[in-house]
Amino acid sequence: MVGINFELPSPVMMPGHLPVMLAEVLELLAPEPGACVLDATFGGGGHTRALLDSAPGVSVVALDRDPAARDRAASLAGSRGQQFTLIDTDFGRLDQVETGPLDGALFDLGVSSFQLDETERGFSFRHDAPADMRMDPRCGVSAAEWLETATEAMLVQAVREYGEESSWRRVVRALVAARGTGRLARTASLAEVVTEAIPAAQRRQSRIHPATRTFQGIRIAVNDEIGAIGRALPVAFERLRPGGVLAVISFHSLEDRPVKHFFRRMCGQPLGAHDSTPQDLRAKFAEPLTRKPRTASRAELDTNPRSRSAKLRALRKL
Ligand SMILES: C[S@@+](CC[C@H](N)C(=O)[O-])C[C@H]1O[C@@H](n2cnc3c(N)ncnc32)[C@H](O)[C@@H]1O
Repeated sequence: MVGINFELPSPVMMPGHLPVMLAEVLELLAPEPGACVLDATFGGGGHTRALLDSAPGVSVVALDRDPAARDRAASLAGSRGQQFTLIDTDFGRLDQVETGPLDGALFDLGVSSFQLDETERGFSFRHDAPADMRMDPRCGVSAAEWLETATEAMLVQAVREYGEESSWRRVVRALVAARGTGRLARTASLAEVVTEAIPAAQRRQSRIHPATRTFQGIRIAVNDEIGAIGRALPVAFERLRPGGVLAVISFHSLEDRPVKHFFRRMCGQPLGAHDSTPQDLRAKFAEPLTRKPRTASRAELDTNPRSRSAKLRALRKL
């Protein structure tokens, strides 16, 4: 960090969750005294706590669609009064949430270690549990029900596009064949259905469990994760004051893609190799603070395995 003397606050960490790229997030958002920041993904509140402590009078409006976040926020809600608000909602509905003008906004995407560690939520195939996978179990349908009722096109999108599974045809066929047998109801039997569908040679070569990609794809589909990112970023950007900073941490290319495209559009950069729009016809609403996405430091990689695939992008509204 050049030119900025950041004393990293020592937030009271929730056991089981270390906020990713905390120093980098604070450096980029750099809240001024009295700033108002949106933390769209409260989780265990690691980033929120550090933001609240980063300068006098900083306030944070935090969102989380997981009802369990409320318990984790209880101590902050009790001790920070008006400076901290948790809103129990999907950031994909940010347009319906009162935030007031913002000086900063943070999205730390994906699931939290709390969700992964809570067997009964059904995010992981490491333990047998009902295949639920909803971040908000009060809305929508569980993964098990979704798998029983989704159209084939929806299954293909989940497994091929969101899961990036090369044997997607076989996996989709196996999922359809398993309907009505009860094998899609629980994580262990669902993982078996997927594993059996993957050719033995691919299974042998892979360093990850053969069901990993398909589980990721189903989770993304059940929670409409990519749709929520696409809806939220323009609203968060619109709420930023001039000079405000938008920072997004993503964990895989599917999440990063809509973020990268949105950032390029706001910063008046070409959207890809095919984009031949002349530079002077491109509107520029922001300047990039990260020309390339930032990644975790060596020290963080050693202590927080979750940081391994993190990519942090930030821009400043003009
Ligand atoms: C990676 S964790 C965030 C961790 C947090 N930054 C911390 O320091 O503890 C992601 C959190 O965002 C929440 N989340 C993911 N997608 C969401 C959405 N569309 N709307 C609201 N919350 C969401 C998840 O429920 C989870 O608690």
